[in-house]
Amino acid sequence: MELIQNAAKTFKKNFKGEAEYCGIAPGRVEVLGNHTDYNEGFILSAAIDREIILCGRKVAGNKATVFATSYGVKVSFDTTAPVLDTDNFWINYIQGVVSELAKIGIDIGGFEAVLDGNVPLGAGLSSSAALEVATLYFLQSIYGFEMNPVKIALTAQAAENNFVGMNCGILDQFSSTMGKKDHLVFLDCRDLDEYRHIPLGNNIELVIANTNAPHSLVDGAYNRLRECCFAAAEHYSQKLAPKKVTHLRDVTVEEMNANSDEIAEDVRKRAKHIITDNQRVLDGVAALEKGDLKTMGECMNLSHISSRDDFGNSCKELDIMMECAEGIDGLYGRRLSGGGFGGCTVNLVAADRAESFAEELAKRYKERSGIDAEMHICRAWDGAHAVKID
Ligand code: GLA
Repeated sequence: MELIQNAAKTFKKNFKGEAEYCGIAPGRVEVLGNHTDYNEGFILSAAIDREIILCGRKVAGNKATVFATSYGVKVSFDTTAPVLDTDNFWINYIQGVVSELAKIGIDIGGFEAVLDGNVPLGAGLSSSAALEVATLYFLQSIYGFEMNPVKIALTAQAAENNFVGMNCGILDQFSSTMGKKDHLVFLDCRDLDEYRHIPLGNNIELVIANTNAPHSLVDGAYNRLRECCFAAAEHYSQKLAPKKVTHLRDVTVEEMNANSDEIAEDVRKRAKHIITDNQRVLDGVAALEKGDLKTMGECMNLSHISSRDDFGNSCKELDIMMECAEGIDGLYGRRLSGGGFGGCTVNLVAADRAESFAEELAKRYKERSGIDAEMHICRAWDGAHAVKID
């Protein structure tokens, strides 16, 4: 609430008048299921208690003006002709949403808004997806169109794919939209209506450890992995015909083991990661449903090893962060989270140990890598929504 009140005050200072509505969307953390989303597989994730908000009102005309608190700048664009802004990259997430809405016949006119939030930027917690989703909730309130949450997630993803130019899957936007306090979101990416909330309990915290590695997810690397997965799916589709294989989701571990002789080594390893990680999501969900956090943690540890050895999207700093967590009191399991090549690990930790865990992990990591890590102790949180400001 404090975030909203502050943004409303900032609005008053920067625009003449009062803010009327606020779109609120959380960041996310991927708990299991790495690069499985665009392979039409399974994911297990959480929205976190860190949010992006867009707070403001509708105005006449077609000019949108947004004041970004963390950058201290005001940027405008024409809502009838959004153009990529290379100086203020953040505005593109808002422009992308406006552009996608126009494609489905929802024309957005003028608005004024303040952008604020507490999702750490550049930590791999999807502040950009949260901004897209918050924009949709805000625009839905001020322009009064109807859109269900699944469609909101898809529209936000389309904004990222088509306007911003990042070829991501549905994980980030879906988690931000569908989160639930103290629950994880389990999604079958082939059928977005088939999602479920899996109770995590209120004595677990997600300690997100940002490696602050000098390199981070490079679009090129992400896209290369994507292509590799699609090439592998094509291979298995030929080998397993007449079985219909459109994505790696369709290949079982047994089928992979029996049909991988003629495939290039690197492609085989990438495919193995996806196929086995899909299974780890299912195993993790089954474990959580029995309250078996130990097995859930083991699935996370194995997922990281698979990223490191087979998918190739870990890096030195992530591996150091993984090793440093070994044996710290309260830990159930940990793995890299998100695209990879830097960013953060997610650690499943007993709530009453989260503080001491984070402190010890940061200390060990600094000793080994020389880098100051950033620790975020997060709780699984509710998904996006809008509020009317009185
Ligand atoms: C990034 C993408 C997601 C997903 C993850 C890896 O976060 O935006 O769509 O592919 O990487 O699981």
